[in-house]
Amino acid sequence: SANKMWGGRFAAGPDAIMEAINASIGFDQRLARQDIEGSRAHAAMLAAQGIITDSDAQAIREGLLTVLSEIDGGTFAFSTALEDIHMNVEARLKELIGEPAGRLHTARSRNDQVATDFRLWVRDQCDAAQTAIAALQRALIGQADQGADWVMPGFTHLQTAQPVTWGHHMMAYVEMLGRDASRFADARARMNECPLGAAALAGTSFPIDRAATAKALGFDRPAANSLDAVSDRDFALEYLAAASICAMHLSRLAEELVIWSSAQFRFVRMSDRFSTGSSIMPQKKNPDAAELVRAKIGRILGATVGLFTVMKGLPLTYSKDMQEDKEQVFDAADALMLALAASEGMMKDLSANPDVLRAAASSGFSTATDLADWLVREAGLPFRDAHHVTGRLVAMAEAEGKDLPDLTLAQMRTAHDAITEGVFDVLGVDNSVRSRTSYGGTAPDNVRSQIARWKQRLT
Ligand code: ARG
Repeated sequence: SANKMWGGRFAAGPDAIMEAINASIGFDQRLARQDIEGSRAHAAMLAAQGIITDSDAQAIREGLLTVLSEIDGGTFAFSTALEDIHMNVEARLKELIGEPAGRLHTARSRNDQVATDFRLWVRDQCDAAQTAIAALQRALIGQADQGADWVMPGFTHLQTAQPVTWGHHMMAYVEMLGRDASRFADARARMNECPLGAAALAGTSFPIDRAATAKALGFDRPAANSLDAVSDRDFALEYLAAASICAMHLSRLAEELVIWSSAQFRFVRMSDRFSTGSSIMPQKKNPDAAELVRAKIGRILGATVGLFTVMKGLPLTYSKDMQEDKEQVFDAADALMLALAASEGMMKDLSANPDVLRAAASSGFSTATDLADWLVREAGLPFRDAHHVTGRLVAMAEAEGKDLPDLTLAQMRTAHDAITEGVFDVLGVDNSVRSRTSYGGTAPDNVRSQIARWKQRLT
């Protein structure tokens, strides 16, 4: 039989395959709360403008609350024949309140309706991401606080570079996540314009008050162009872009946890709560949570590319292609929130091994730069010459299977006769990190002031 909503023009109902490809109710039921919120605001505005009666608006607004409680309570019967969340809600409203339900869709289309619902949903996700990021930052700051002066090797190319502090390494992620949070805040501010009232695409001849619905739904203002309002999905793309960058950061942190927790590194011990065992190898403790966090970028970036691909080349305004915007964003948001929560849990539970970190920092000639700097400062060598002299000493130590501080003064002096006993002061890892006092450097005092700054920012 023909469709209830547009049956006037149709003699036959849809093919089963048509119904299957067309229906979005399987996923867009996640927009139920936003849909009902938007409809309640729209009905109130219609009544305030004298477009429908107060008593109809009252019946609609109350009926919609009943529908919401049925959905929340799990008793609502979603119908694929009714295509999407918008028509499912409206059809149930009709069953509940009768004729006034048919007046709700005055001066509105599903095009501005879905654009509004989805914006509200994505806006909530921007807020949720910021909250979860702050929680992870607090866990990282907890780690930094504890080990502000624990010395560990800093790496480039995953080769020992220079000693740094555990606190400094933790705070590097706090900075990265701070940028992530600000990207979600920026995206939220830009998306906070209300499409409702753009109607199908051209606006409406009814005397609606778009400023009123925008305000009621917490938007800063109505979107200024009705064509743009119904065809724009930038807000979802910006959310996905911010989510992708954040997921990339989480993936890097997770990768470090995987490396650090290996028997070859032993920098950290992951808690049992975020590890798994092996069904065959009894000794195994695997960092599965970290590995899954490392992988989540795949689906999140995939969703980003997916939505860009759906949107590119679409003529203005709405095309049904755009129904394919939602599932990917839902999936990406779920993945991001889970990855943030797992990262927070892992970082809260993590125990670093300061002794192992320190021993690793002391090997691999990590203070060679300190030696070269000493030659510049104390013996007046140009840095390039100092670099060469130090390189010869590293080669000498390596040939003897020693570290730099184990060379004798006599051996040192064969490389340059300006070297004195004083050089040994700079070859220790503690002196090395303590000397890195330039702004943003790894000196423990610097790290402590960064921790204090971030604690302040996060309250
Ligand atoms: N379910 C649709 C979507 O998700 C709602 C908008 C339908 N509009 C239309 N003109 N068919 O995009």
